[in-house]
Amino acid sequence: MAASRRTVLSVAGGAIALVAIGGYWRVMRTPQTAMAPWTLDDPAPEDIRLDAFRHAILAPNSHNLQPWRIRLVGDDGAVLFADLDRRLPQTDPFDRQITISQGTFLELARIAAAERGHALAIQPFPQGEAERLDERPIAALRFTPSAPPKDPLFAQIPHRRSNKQAYDLARPVGEADLETVVKAAGIIAAYTADPGKIEAIRALVLEAVELEMRIPRTHQESMAVMRIGAREIDANPDGLEMHGPMIEAMDAIGVISHESLSDPDSFAFRSGLKMMQDSYGSAPAFIWISTASNDRANQLSAGYDYVRLNLAATAAGLSMHPMSQSLQEYPEMARINAAMHRLLAPDGGRVQMLARIGHGPAIGPTPRRPLGSKLAV
Ligand SMILES: Cc1cc2nc3c(=O)[nH]c(=O)nc-3n(C[C@H](O)[C@H](O)[C@H](O)COP(=O)(O)O)c2cc1C
Repeated sequence: MAASRRTVLSVAGGAIALVAIGGYWRVMRTPQTAMAPWTLDDPAPEDIRLDAFRHAILAPNSHNLQPWRIRLVGDDGAVLFADLDRRLPQTDPFDRQITISQGTFLELARIAAAERGHALAIQPFPQGEAERLDERPIAALRFTPSAPPKDPLFAQIPHRRSNKQAYDLARPVGEADLETVVKAAGIIAAYTADPGKIEAIRALVLEAVELEMRIPRTHQESMAVMRIGAREIDANPDGLEMHGPMIEAMDAIGVISHESLSDPDSFAFRSGLKMMQDSYGSAPAFIWISTASNDRANQLSAGYDYVRLNLAATAAGLSMHPMSQSLQEYPEMARINAAMHRLLAPDGGRVQMLARIGHGPAIGPTPRRPLGSKLAV
């Protein structure tokens, strides 16, 4: 304890010294290009498909790896593939979450196409599916002009966030609020604002977070895609990012690095765990999406539903944070996963997404690679 207090003091001291010696520009640095895809006020591309996809790349997706590859076909078609190099084999061994992340992408494409007066027909897994994703397409797509009703959730696309900060526990969220959000999303989801149930879910969530961080191979999978500071984020606008003046300062004086974050005895690791516990643990309410079976079509549809819920919560002024550790399929997580399913889906089914929901601080968007990098020839 004393050691970590000393380290905190020296970190703060180092940060002050850095600023004092003219390093102000360094600690105040912010990513310059990584958030550019969120600026949608350029003239819309004439090709409706590109317009739909520039919105779709803003979808929530696991570890922000943006695992999408798109091939345009003819004048009105496209094929979506998973980028197989962007999977997470340790924590997502059956590619379930990466498939949900294809669903979130497709749903935003569908909403954006409707805004331009086109229906998007989605044929899932046109060449079949397997236990792991492979080179076969995720979906064959066709855009047809047909004036489908515009979706009121469209306006929320650039404002949607996964808000991983601590939420304001003084501002409760009631079940009536949650029902309003689910209705606005037009989907089926379960939720609770019951203190006893929240506590039971929260305990499992926190156990799962710590377990995953303490298993080197699962923790390493996140560390490998961690981008520390504005410079790394601009160079690799994907993965899990850490930035802001304190991070830049700690990076500059060497307290925070990929190595220290990976070392369970380090100050950086212990502070990271504490920050995760504080944020994941601040849950005014929980909301979750389950499917009757766990096939690929259901995983895609969980993605459609999840992003609709996230957009509807945004419209209602609520923050959401998906928390998937306890739902993952690697052996060490099996007991927690089973306990979570007993709590959330006692009558059977697969819980695909679990999120806390409440009032979080305003936050900015996460990095995105430009659409051009996702277009395959
Ligand atoms: C299938 C899936 C699983 C996710 N699991 C987690 C999670 O366990 N913890 C977390 O902090 N965020 C999780 N997220 C949120 C992503 O990290 C987030 O969408 C991504 O970093 C992009 O950020 P954005 O949603 O704010 O655009 C998940 C998202 C999806 C689609």
